Amino acid sequence: MPLAPRLRPGQAQALEIVPTGAALGADIRGVDLRSIDESVFAAIYEAWLDHAVVLFRNQHLADEDLIAFSRRFGTLDHAPIQENGRRFVEGRPEIYVVSNVVEHGVAIGSLGAGEAVWHTDMSYLPDPPKASALYSLEVPATGGDTCFCTMYGAWDALPDDLRGLAQTLRVKHDGTYNSGGYVRAGVTPTDDPRTAPGTLHPLVCTHPETGRRHLYLGRRRNAWLEGLPLDESNALLDRIWEIATADRLAWRHRWQPGDLVVWDNRCAMHRRDAFDPGARRVMHRTQIKG
Ligand code: OGA
Ligand code: MN
Repeated sequence: MPLAPRLRPGQAQALEIVPTGAALGADIRGVDLRSIDESVFAAIYEAWLDHAVVLFRNQHLADEDLIAFSRRFGTLDHAPIQENGRRFVEGRPEIYVVSNVVEHGVAIGSLGAGEAVWHTDMSYLPDPPKASALYSLEVPATGGDTCFCTMYGAWDALPDDLRGLAQTLRVKHDGTYNSGGYVRAGVTPTDDPRTAPGTLHPLVCTHPETGRRHLYLGRRRNAWLEGLPLDESNALLDRIWEIATADRLAWRHRWQPGDLVVWDNRCAMHRRDAFDPGARRVMHRTQIKG
């Protein structure tokens, strides 16, 4: 008797990887993320490494499904503490809630309804997550799009005169403000990046899995190029950020409920448009350890 095939019939064939046509990102179709096997996950992981951001539409993920799928990428980090000091979803320390919704006078999540500026998640830590998975439960009719940009493309776009220098520099990644501009819980605000809490990371990195070179910028606010006078650091950072966040290096995602987007937090940055504060937007996120 032949062994039963490990793939359910039709499942692998149904998996379709459709690049966005922008500088990064792919839409992965034909999968229900609650029930995939090892070979399907291997194809997803490869597509994720190739495209830096992958989108799955029409998913039906309870928190435990989101956690289970995210765990296939690696060990999960606990979510950061919310701006109001609230810690985690009860019983689910892996879940970070991104939301403007206020219930009984308490914000249920972080980042409000304003713009979230370009950033990479939790880079103020010595070991930032390698990936984040963001799942949409409720989205506003307009606004709240999330954009992603490729940091491989940013390295490629760096002019020759900057490349040599860039490889010698480390960036101070600020731990004072989050991407919504809110002061992190427990931090005394300061606007001197040299003394602010945070971590130094090399400006130019080699991706440990793809071997490709990329920039690692974190956030612009309170960033500092180690060892440089502040004005020189600011001028150089402004120049690099303008190159890295050019429209041609970015992809815009317009959310529908049931979308899961998983990004490589090492070689992609993201930002979010503001939306109507009177509308509801509720997203659940996991973060996978680097
Ligand atoms: C995040 C984030 C943006 C958004 O979850 O890390 O930056 O679209 N979210 O809500
Ligand atoms: Mn983020």
